[in-house]
Order: sequence, then C-alpha cells, then structure tokens
Amino acid sequence: MPITTCVFDAYGTLFDVAGAARAAAAEPGGESLAAVWPRLAEDWRRKQLEYSWLRAVMGTHCDFWQVTQDGLDWALEAAGLDDAGLRARLLALYETLPAYQEVPAMLERLKSFGRATAILSNGAPGMLAAAVTSAGIGDLLDACLSVESIGVFKPDPRVYRLVTERFGGGAEDVLFVSSNGWDAAAAAAFGFRTAWVNRAGLPCDRLPGRPHHVLSDLTTIPELVCP
Ligand code: LAC
Repeated sequence: MPITTCVFDAYGTLFDVAGAARAAAAEPGGESLAAVWPRLAEDWRRKQLEYSWLRAVMGTHCDFWQVTQDGLDWALEAAGLDDAGLRARLLALYETLPAYQEVPAMLERLKSFGRATAILSNGAPGMLAAAVTSAGIGDLLDACLSVESIGVFKPDPRVYRLVTERFGGGAEDVLFVSSNGWDAAAAAAFGFRTAWVNRAGLPCDRLPGRPHHVLSDLTTIPELVCP
C-alpha cells in the first residue's frame, strides 16, 4: 500500500530542541551558559518529557508550554543558574527553535510527489504555530495537529488517532516520523509505518512496537514514501 500521508513529531524531529540553549550561550551575556548549555538542554528536555508523562499518570494534565517552563526551571536550578532574564530569553528562543537544515527541501519533495504532510505534537497550538512560522514551513504542511484538542499527551494511542480522523484512510497509509524512540515505538504499535530518526545513535527502546526504519536524519524520508 502506498503511503499517502507523512506525519512528523515536532520537537527534536523537525525542530532542534538544543537550539535555544546553544543560541543563548553564544549571545552577549550568555557567558554563564558557555560551559553548561549542553547539560542544561539535556536536563530541560528530559524533565519536560518526564513531567508530561508523570502528569498523565497523576491525572493533572497541563499543556506542553507549562511543562516546558517547569522543565526549564528544574534544569536552571540544577545548573545553579538563578537568572530571570536568562530564563525569559531561553523561553523566547524555544518559541522560535531552528528547524533542522534538511527540513524545507524534504517537505518540498513530499509535496511535489502529492503526499499530505502534517505535524502531530505534544506542543500547545501557540507554540507550534510560532515554531512553524519562524521556520517558514507553514506552506509545506497540510495540518498542524496538537494533542491539546483532546488534552492527553503522546504516547496515548488516542493522540495517534487524531491523524486518521483528520486525513481519513487507515493507519497503514501513514508514515510517522519521530526522533523520539518511545514515540516511534508507540506509533508503530498503533499501526503506522514509522521512521525513527536516531541522530544520536541510541539503542532502540524496549517497548511494544518497533520502528520500521531507522535513519540518521530526515533527508531520505521522501525515498521511503515515494519510491
Ligand atoms: C512532540 C515532542 C514529544 O513534539 O517531541 O510531540
């Protein structure tokens, strides 16, 4: 069956989540970050995700912008950085994270082959709109689906169902692309074809569902979809 729809996770997949801390460290006044920004970026991301899952288990959902702020506050305290200006700057940069350099050409190729394209993200609608606009890829996406329409985070299977509800057709018509191993696993368990973008060369997550493809970046996605 040909793939008709190509759906992307946002943070870490299309947008480089380390970009905010990296950029802040390079700015005038960012000297305090110079030595610690990689660890800060890693802690920030890990806590952001942990808080999304823990709040799901606790039954205390809040949107992804809130867990993004809470994760940053944990990471700043762990780094010994108590600086309200730096916190505000990092959050502003997070709203305009850079897209990976191969993203626009990859999406353009998918569109030239007539495939539908979309984001499916834990991100709140405002965060996603800002990132898509800043990256200049809005015209290359048919939909930007946020979990906030149902108020549960990935990897709840109800989130993946948003794609089939939006585009019609079956799960087997969809290639789902994520840099998060757990997201690719859950999407495969849901029934999508999946590609895990494993930029860091990590081991495969031991979860139900295995990605069908493991890639080092997004460049070859059109070849999987439009052979
Ligand atoms: C997202 C996060 C999980 O965009 O990367 O959904």
